[in-house]
Amino acid sequence: MSELMDWDQVYREQGFFEGPPPWNIGEPQPEIAELIRAGKFRSDVLDAGCGVAEASLALAAQGHTVVGVDLTPTAVAAATKAAQERGLSNATFVQDDITSFTGYDGRFNTILDSTLFHSLPVESRDAYLRAVHRAAAPGASFFVLVFATGAFPTDTDLPVPNVVTEDELRQAVSKYWDIDEIRPAFIHANMPQIPDAPPLQFDADEKGRQKMPAFLLTAHKAG
Ligand SMILES: C[S@@+](CC[C@H](N)C(=O)[O-])C[C@H]1O[C@@H](n2cnc3c(N)ncnc32)[C@H](O)[C@@H]1O
Repeated sequence: MSELMDWDQVYREQGFFEGPPPWNIGEPQPEIAELIRAGKFRSDVLDAGCGVAEASLALAAQGHTVVGVDLTPTAVAAATKAAQERGLSNATFVQDDITSFTGYDGRFNTILDSTLFHSLPVESRDAYLRAVHRAAAPGASFFVLVFATGAFPTDTDLPVPNVVTEDELRQAVSKYWDIDEIRPAFIHANMPQIPDAPPLQFDADEKGRQKMPAFLLTAHKAG
């Protein structure tokens, strides 16, 4: 399995970005914040590829029981420290590979994927979807926020995310999950200029972050 990048090195700010990763925006992705506001989450929640876990922390602050899973010790340590500082004992964080995640069979009523799907090698998608489906309770909801084609140049050797078409996303996820909706969405990021690539041409949000093309998928596990 070829990882897209050395994730722990990125969180230690010694990797590709030479600074905070562009997806660390200090709050949940706005599309996810809107789902939280709309009351779409039911405990227990699994935050798959949680990173520094702003979504988990926002959910825990609302009283949800959340487990965040991430490959990197640095992100897990940062999320654990933030939960302690905010007095959120209902948020716990585990360092694990989500593509072989076990030990929580049937536990979660909501699975959140906030920009993990495009971070996985394409050949790992099936194992990932199977693992989180196994961890889901009957009737559980699954939300996936993922970069759409067009978000990054294709003619580059740089480690760009594994963006998806709507059909590709539908085909992969529907093997395990019942899809309710896939709609166009945005991922907000503090993207640096990629060396030797044309400047990214996206609208900025009110905080000056780029609004990049994405899909928001909503699915559920058969009850
Ligand atoms: C783009 S970041 C998104 C982080 C967070 N969900 C957010 O919205 O800010 C992708 C995350 O997936 C994690 N990741 C990548 N491969 C993973 C794997 N196989 N198992 C668990 N986490 C993984 C990375 O360490 C990284 O934190």
